[in-house]
Amino acid sequence: MLEYLKQDIFKIVSEAADNQGKECYVIGGFVRDIFLKRESKDIDIVTVGSGIELAEEVAKQLGKKAQLTVFKNFGTAQVKHKDLEVEFVGARRESYQRNSRKPIVEDGTLEDDQNRRDFTINALAICLNKNRFGELVDPFNGLNDLQNFVLRTPLNPDITFSDDPLRMMRGIRFSAQLSFFLETNTFDAITRNRERINIISRERIADELNKIMMSRKPSVGFILLEKTGLLELIFPELLALKGAETKDGIGHKDNFYHTLAVLDEICLHTDNLWLRWAALLHDIGKPRTKRFDKRLGWTFHNHNYVGEKMIPEIFKRMKLPTNDKMKFVQKMVSLHMRPIVLSEDEVTDSAVRRLLFDAGNDIENLMTLCEADITSKNPEKVKRYRNNFQLVRKKLKEIEEKDRVRNFQPPVDGKEIMETFDLPACSIVGDIKIKIKDAILDGIIPNEHDAAREYMFKIAPEFGLTIPDSK
Ligand code: CTP
Repeated sequence: MLEYLKQDIFKIVSEAADNQGKECYVIGGFVRDIFLKRESKDIDIVTVGSGIELAEEVAKQLGKKAQLTVFKNFGTAQVKHKDLEVEFVGARRESYQRNSRKPIVEDGTLEDDQNRRDFTINALAICLNKNRFGELVDPFNGLNDLQNFVLRTPLNPDITFSDDPLRMMRGIRFSAQLSFFLETNTFDAITRNRERINIISRERIADELNKIMMSRKPSVGFILLEKTGLLELIFPELLALKGAETKDGIGHKDNFYHTLAVLDEICLHTDNLWLRWAALLHDIGKPRTKRFDKRLGWTFHNHNYVGEKMIPEIFKRMKLPTNDKMKFVQKMVSLHMRPIVLSEDEVTDSAVRRLLFDAGNDIENLMTLCEADITSKNPEKVKRYRNNFQLVRKKLKEIEEKDRVRNFQPPVDGKEIMETFDLPACSIVGDIKIKIKDAILDGIIPNEHDAAREYMFKIAPEFGLTIPDSK
């Protein structure tokens, strides 16, 4: 453990604290991560006395290389040094009121400070004063919990979660991120206190959700959110996917668990957060489009388009970015069936060209999503789909090389059409452009200027246009 405290910063903090005659500890996530062998650049220092004074002394010692920011209102200070961010705070005792996350704060001892933390594994402290340097202070057996992969609150969990309900999300996030288990009382308390999540800002909830999304196996987090009842409160559209109905002996799959299987699978192939979101939302339109038909069984017609339209309201409510990231997720959701449908039929050049045209530069991401979407338990079916996808990929490559439709630019533009036929800007110009584009995508003509111009003359009579003599 001592080797993690060899960095210069700890020596400087240690000397500064001794000079000021203050008890001083490194605490929280940094200590937890030492034992988990995870690298961490965020260091939390707690001292008995003023954290700001200690930070000022440390910043002075570090000289120009360090950047000090003081948050007077919170009684905290931050020192940035190289790639490290060091937070300083005086040990405190906190009490909370029911409707706010804002605590009443008083000075306290180290033990008071440890009591008010979220989980035993996050309440470990290591002393930095010279005469006790490296001594672990672990009043709640956090080390034991770390070794057993257990998340447990230091105090009665009802108090810990009621004080700061964001901790319920944090607990579930740590379960997914660190592969830890919520101890039974802690789990039950989340279920009991779930409604308190309503006082937490949506940005902070979204932060935790994104951390769950970026973990190795996000389904762990979403299943816990569902089991504790939090999912219903923060993401009802996802919960609506749950359940498998049967009618006339015909059932459909449980789309909640299917979605989570797709999400876990895509995480093996991409770290792109928004592609992961696309996996989570790919079937989000299914509950709204579900129908039972005696002949066809269960159908979810147009669920991809309905899903695409639901995304802006979901992103807005959750305070996720409503910019090009969201547009990308929408595009993936709307197109997610295309490669599958394509590979079920004969893989024609024209269908591949149209797919390339619609997906553009996102084609690789779309293929990754579609491959993750194959969760059938029938190995024959899986094999068939995978083989077909290989064929689609091969064709995509061939056609892209030949026809360059990925970033399609019309080889004959509107200006040329207007000049040739002496037309003002009008709908005919757009119609001609569409016809040319369709002819290229259907393989009737190559994606080249001369061929497109020739084709334009060929279709001109359909629009009542005469071919000029000067052609
Ligand atoms: N903490 C807490 N309750 C919270 C947030 C934080 O008790 N709602 C305490 C924990 O002791 C935590 C420490 O403050 O370890 C630092 O918080 P933070 O940096 O947000 O979290 P880490 O535990 O370091 O983990 P991560 O950086 O992954 O969020």
